Amino acid sequence: MLELNGVTAGYGAGLILKGVDLSVASGEIVCLIGPNGAGKSTVLKTVSGLLRPKGGSVTFKGESIGRLSPKERLTRGIVHVPQDRSLFPAMSVWENVVMGAFILSDQNLVRQRVEEVAEMFPIVARRRSASAGSLSGGEQKQVELARSLMLDPALILLDEPSIGLDPKSRTSVFASIAALAESGRTVLLVEQNARSGLAVAHRAAVLEAGVVALTGTGEGLLNDPEVARLYLGASARSGVQQSETLAAAI
Ligand SMILES: Nc1ncnc2c1ncn2[C@@H]1O[C@H](COP(=O)(O)OP(=O)(O)O)[C@@H](O)[C@H]1O
Ligand SMILES: [Mg+2]
Repeated sequence: MLELNGVTAGYGAGLILKGVDLSVASGEIVCLIGPNGAGKSTVLKTVSGLLRPKGGSVTFKGESIGRLSPKERLTRGIVHVPQDRSLFPAMSVWENVVMGAFILSDQNLVRQRVEEVAEMFPIVARRRSASAGSLSGGEQKQVELARSLMLDPALILLDEPSIGLDPKSRTSVFASIAALAESGRTVLLVEQNARSGLAVAHRAAVLEAGVVALTGTGEGLLNDPEVARLYLGASARSGVQQSETLAAAI
């Protein structure tokens, strides 16, 4: 469905992405992990059109989209949920979700879509009149996910959806991501919570310094000792081992 070949991109003279190769098949959840500043968000921007690639190709459903505007890509079924909170805090939950369909003129279709979306994300109906800003971070993320479905997208780009959330909200976000894929959507996910991101992903890639350094299945990367050492908080496990050793010694 999506293919990046040798994509280079940056914000000024220098390159942040130095030749990214990545593919996402229809119905897959692909998780991109990697250190801070590696260019993960930049990859998503080159797919949604917030940033034009300087070189290489971005192909979506067989069409080269690297030169299309964000709106043209949205029309083709690519939606981007950015890392920062993106709801309009003073507007109601319901109004925020409806905003996700801003390019649609058929109001009957918009009404039908918002009802469908509210079925999948019950908070949309339950808190419909609440101002979005009054919701918790986890609730706001659910509403953002709901809003992203309003144009019935084929591909959803999720940038660090679990960041800053408490453990319970994090669990709900990952459950929602799995549900998106089960409902036939394709997801390209960027996650700093690598363990949960890899666990929910069919396939995954490690981005390091602007290139894809490693790819595999989500499970394969979860069990890769090098990935574990660098990205899965192996030090926390060795902490447990240390205390077990200490307990045994006592
Ligand atoms: N709007 C911007 N203008 C200039 N530099 C940026 C901008 N956004 C990101 N960068 C730089 O690009 C690099 C990669 O950023 P980013 O893609 O956000 O990394 P990641 O998401 O992997 O943490 C970083 O060095 C960052 O400082
Ligand atoms: Mg980022």
